[in-house]
Amino acid sequence: MTAKTPTGLAGDAKQRLIQQALERRRHSAGAGEQGATLEQVQQAALKVPEAHYRFDQHPGYQQLRVIQQSGLRLGLSNPFFRLHQGTAGAQTQIGEREYLNFASYNYLGYSGHPRVAEASKAAIDRYGTSVSASRPVSGDRPLHRALERELASLYEVDDAVVMVSGHATNVTTIGYLFGPRDLVVHDELIHNSVLQGIQLSGARRLSFAHNDWQALDRLLGEQRQHFERVLVVVEGIYSMDGDYPELPRFVELKHKHKVFLMVDEAHSLGVMGATGKGIREHFRLAGNDVDIWMGTLSKTLASCGGYIAGSTALIEHLKFLAPGFLYSVGMPPAVTAAALAALQLLADDAAGVAKVQARGELFLRLAREAGLDTATSTGLAVIPVITGSSFKAGRLSSALFERGINAQPILYPAVPEHSARVRFFVSCEHTEEQIRHTVAVVAEEMARLG
Ligand SMILES: Cc1ncc(COP(=O)(O)O)c(C=O)c1O
Repeated sequence: MTAKTPTGLAGDAKQRLIQQALERRRHSAGAGEQGATLEQVQQAALKVPEAHYRFDQHPGYQQLRVIQQSGLRLGLSNPFFRLHQGTAGAQTQIGEREYLNFASYNYLGYSGHPRVAEASKAAIDRYGTSVSASRPVSGDRPLHRALERELASLYEVDDAVVMVSGHATNVTTIGYLFGPRDLVVHDELIHNSVLQGIQLSGARRLSFAHNDWQALDRLLGEQRQHFERVLVVVEGIYSMDGDYPELPRFVELKHKHKVFLMVDEAHSLGVMGATGKGIREHFRLAGNDVDIWMGTLSKTLASCGGYIAGSTALIEHLKFLAPGFLYSVGMPPAVTAAALAALQLLADDAAGVAKVQARGELFLRLAREAGLDTATSTGLAVIPVITGSSFKAGRLSSALFERGINAQPILYPAVPEHSARVRFFVSCEHTEEQIRHTVAVVAEEMARLG
């Protein structure tokens, strides 16, 4: 009989347990020959710089503090997170005061439209405020499919899928569909969500000069052969500059180099084309000239979320496998119904579309006549006034706010420092008078800034 120890275990059994515990400790300590002692762990912890475990020392936060403090020193009003007291249309109430508003992309005035609001409220009454799980799990609501069918028919493609965030739609679609053997080429001014998607995908990323399809042609000529799948991404209307690509040229390149083409219509839906169907209508292209039509529900469609429209293979694939759809809750009923109602309004609103285009043209013409630098804007709803430095952009925005005009400064690093600007979103609800007044005030304040 083997002698028992005070723990009640036989000596060799105890020895085995100690051995196993030591093994486990060695494995959990990682690659080291032996697990670190408590003293060694404490010594190592002493060497970890504070910046590596404190958020207040994060470089991003520190940079933010510097910007905030210099804004305060210069007596500039903080242009961010302003508190609106009602619907932000062409006018808005911020605090106690009424402002002319050029900081919201409510291009056709559908946010605040009674039919959109009614549809949204009715959806809550019928389906509740959440679908309470991802759609593969909790199932669809008729509203989801109705919205997706309308979007597919707008683009004349097989199908569409809607997701809970426009930004996340780009991230998960590109992040899922492409991988380390692939290449994603994008316009140098492409939106951050596309860049994040590429990073997630692990694909090689290259950019071409803004709207320069010839540069893209050369780049693809050199690079195409080194990769499996290649995606080219452009925007319908560029969100910072208000210009657009010669899309038919990009379609030609897609066929020439056998690549996929993706267009982000966040700002072009509702704004471009005679009936607001976007850049496809503007250039009279076919739905399948572009492989991935992407857009957001948060601008013209007065809601929240993003969509992808395209072939059955693309949409079915995303619905079953793109993590941002599969593992994320389905669009809430109220949000889906708002987008659907807005889309239905758009189908019958050529007048609103013509108006937003005319107001944008007026703003651009007057701004140019006043000698303001509007860069490459075409006047399609987005008009930047370039100030040339973040400091001046902050000052101009602050001066405008004092005079009852709400327009956001766009500062470095959102744009290069020399092209810092104040950006104006024009809607069909702005009157000619409001636009004339605004441009005159901007010109006066720019002159004052020197
Ligand atoms: C071009 C572009 N794509 C995607 C997005 C993201 O859309 P959302 O704000 O609806 O998430 C934006 C947002 O402004 C955008 O401008």
